[in-house]
Amino acid sequence: MSGADIPSGDEAQAFGVYVHWPFCLSKCPYCDFNSHVRHAAIDQDRFVRAFASEIAATAERVPGRTVSTIFFGGGTPSLMEPATVGALLDAIARRWTIAPDVEVTLEANPTSVEAERFRGYRTAGVNRVSLGVQALEDGALKELGRLHTAREALDAVAIARTVFERYSFDLIYARPRQTPQAWAAELKRAITEAAEHLSLYQLTIEQDTPFAALHAAGKLVIPDEDHARALWDTTQEICAGAGLPAYEISNHARRGAECRHNLVYWRTHEYAGIGPGAHGRLDIDGERHAIATEKRPEAWLMRAESLRHGVVTDEVLTRGEVADEFLLMGLRLAEGIDPERYARLAGRPLDPHRIAILRDEGAVEMTATGMLRVTQSGFPILDAVVADLAA
Ligand SMILES: C[S@@+](CC[C@H](N)C(=O)[O-])C[C@H]1O[C@@H](n2cnc3c(N)ncnc32)[C@H](O)[C@@H]1O
Ligand code: SF4
Repeated sequence: MSGADIPSGDEAQAFGVYVHWPFCLSKCPYCDFNSHVRHAAIDQDRFVRAFASEIAATAERVPGRTVSTIFFGGGTPSLMEPATVGALLDAIARRWTIAPDVEVTLEANPTSVEAERFRGYRTAGVNRVSLGVQALEDGALKELGRLHTAREALDAVAIARTVFERYSFDLIYARPRQTPQAWAAELKRAITEAAEHLSLYQLTIEQDTPFAALHAAGKLVIPDEDHARALWDTTQEICAGAGLPAYEISNHARRGAECRHNLVYWRTHEYAGIGPGAHGRLDIDGERHAIATEKRPEAWLMRAESLRHGVVTDEVLTRGEVADEFLLMGLRLAEGIDPERYARLAGRPLDPHRIAILRDEGAVEMTATGMLRVTQSGFPILDAVVADLAA
């Protein structure tokens, strides 16, 4: 990874709003996101009213913010009517100031039905889409339980290109039987379709998913550590060569085209989480609150209708917890972390002895500007590096 040079000048003021739409047409067998399938139609107007109440209640706790990014995630936000998205953007604008250069992203599944709504989203105020393409091979898409073909996904990407100033798409690699050669060819093809941003995730077996059961039964074999490492190296090499270096462990962008909303999380700035199962980090009276809402959509709805919000967890983080989170999130970034900011948050510096050991092992390095960052060979063992530094 190369990095350390993402402009971060005004990011200290960054304030993001995450809105979670928790419904999907079907549940993908690898997915453990808070997503639910409903056979009856969803009353979107009723959800809009509940979302608007939660936005208002949140804004009362953190008034006066200027919203720099908004992200509609899911679930499948592209199942929302454009009018629903417009109403939610209006509700946000009624309670906070919207920055003139606000980034408004919507996650979309790349089916033809959803692509038909793209223009409506644009009119509503969305200026960036992130498409869940996942694979460019029909066999792999089927195995992943996706409802779209590669052709359909590429058509949706082509529509996104004409409608939005900015778009990204996601691919899942390290899939069963995937060779570095096959992945290299698929990735190169994807890059010809990408503009400025790609999210590339290694397939993870999440607990309590159908894939976890198949994996445990030996019916789903994923690449072992060495093979996954070769796929990772292929990914970094091809993307960097194409001008899309990783700026985060799974995210690649041209310089200046990073997803600003996700940078809010990774730089541990402040954000509000709205909707079922959303998480937020709010700074109230000098303390950082970790907030989470009820996950079940209908239970969240009833809670929001009676209490004006669906919050079920609101914890003030200790100094140590804030510092650990800063390390955990910040070391995912190619730019790394400022050790002085860590020391201010934790009330003590990082252990120089541990840094020296990790440096000797080639897992971390100090940049010329004094940032501590994980190296290319450290990224595949990021969890261990963070655990070592945080201990
Ligand atoms: C919230 S999800 C999905 C957004 C959208 N509903 C979709 O499926 O296209 C965001 C991304 O996480 C990735 N993802 C989800 N589960 C994963 C897993 N088990 N392993 C790797 N990537 C995963 C997928 O690439 C997905 O597009
Ligand atoms: S991967 Fe996306 S479409 Fe599939 S279940 Fe998860 S959130 Fe829904």
